[in-house]
Amino acid sequence: MKAIELTAASLSAFRRTELPEPKAARGEVLVRLRAATLNFLDVAIATGQFPAAGFPMVPVADGAGEIAALGEGVSGWTIGERVIPHFMPNWQGGAITPRNVAALRGVNLPGSLAEYAAVPATSLVALPAHLDFVQGAALPIAATTAWNAVRSAPLRPGAVVLLLGTGGVSIFALQFAKAHGATVILASSSDDKLERARQLGADHLINYRATPAWDEEVLKLTDGRGADLVVETVGAASIARSLNAAAVGGTVFTVGFVTGTAAPIDLLPVIVKALRIVGNNTGSVADLAEAARAIAAHRIVPVIDRIFDIDDAAAAYAELSAGGRHFGKLAIAH
Ligand SMILES: NC(=O)c1ccc[n+]([C@@H]2O[C@H](COP(=O)([O-])OP(=O)(O)OC[C@H]3O[C@@H](n4cnc5c(N)ncnc54)[C@H](OP(=O)(O)O)[C@@H]3O)[C@@H](O)[C@H]2O)c1
Repeated sequence: MKAIELTAASLSAFRRTELPEPKAARGEVLVRLRAATLNFLDVAIATGQFPAAGFPMVPVADGAGEIAALGEGVSGWTIGERVIPHFMPNWQGGAITPRNVAALRGVNLPGSLAEYAAVPATSLVALPAHLDFVQGAALPIAATTAWNAVRSAPLRPGAVVLLLGTGGVSIFALQFAKAHGATVILASSSDDKLERARQLGADHLINYRATPAWDEEVLKLTDGRGADLVVETVGAASIARSLNAAAVGGTVFTVGFVTGTAAPIDLLPVIVKALRIVGNNTGSVADLAEAARAIAAHRIVPVIDRIFDIDDAAAAYAELSAGGRHFGKLAIAH
């Protein structure tokens, strides 16, 4: 089968190759992959910021396709069905455990830049009917994480959610938060992107370049109360301001490290406001399935910025790693 391999931790180490077609073992399903989308994680692997199991490897965690064959003992799925294989195939549901997060597609298992993947049937989620393959491929990491973010705090109508940037996680979080009736404050580096976020329902917009003290702006916009939920996608550069922008009893859902992972923080706001700082590592197949059901119920359409051909995978990676050029997700179709 045709595949793209990453041969080293380098953004210029992609090669097109032919690999043996995988076979669906007992309990597995062979998926004919049709699309993939990039996450910051894929770039982190290709730049050596996140360890892969070894090289060469078939990269890209997230994908979608259709069932080409069923392994022995698989029931409940049919050939031709459109499916999303989850990034964390071991994690069916329930709490995080070391085993649940030990196997990762596109990290230590073959990823989505190949024609076929053999995956456990229990790691599949049906692709929502109103989505195409590219849109479905956007779900595993970004939608699951954003869904877990909005469920991490009691989002009663009128609750305030603060989102940082306009990448894959933030835009899904915007769509889910609006579906929950929350008020969304979104900060971005670009007025054009802020306008696009407004069209998706964001209530208050802050350009964090023009307003570096965006945390104070969040407090102003909320009459001093702050945000009930902050989805912390940025990391070192923003965590201190995120803690300042959070409301008393608020939740800071901590997922991102686009600006690094090490930052000094003042513990006083955490203590005085009794903040909940909640770490997250994507989520389970059950979480992805729930996110997909919410997407179907609310007719949410994932925002795809650009679609690259599989032979232009390096260009897709370059676009994501440039940082701040895309809005939503970058996709690769094949
Ligand atoms: N732990 C988990 O469960 C989990 C799951 C998914 C993702 N993540 C992590 O979460 C982060 C976001 O993921 P993603 O896929 O959404 O990334 P992405 O698509 O690359 O988006 C990152 C966005 O961050 C914004 N940004 C960059 N620097 C900023 C700053 N100083 N202040 C505010 N915003 C800034 C930019 O938005 P603008 O261009 O609008 O300024 C940029 O588009 C990544 O670190 C990723 O690894 C973690």
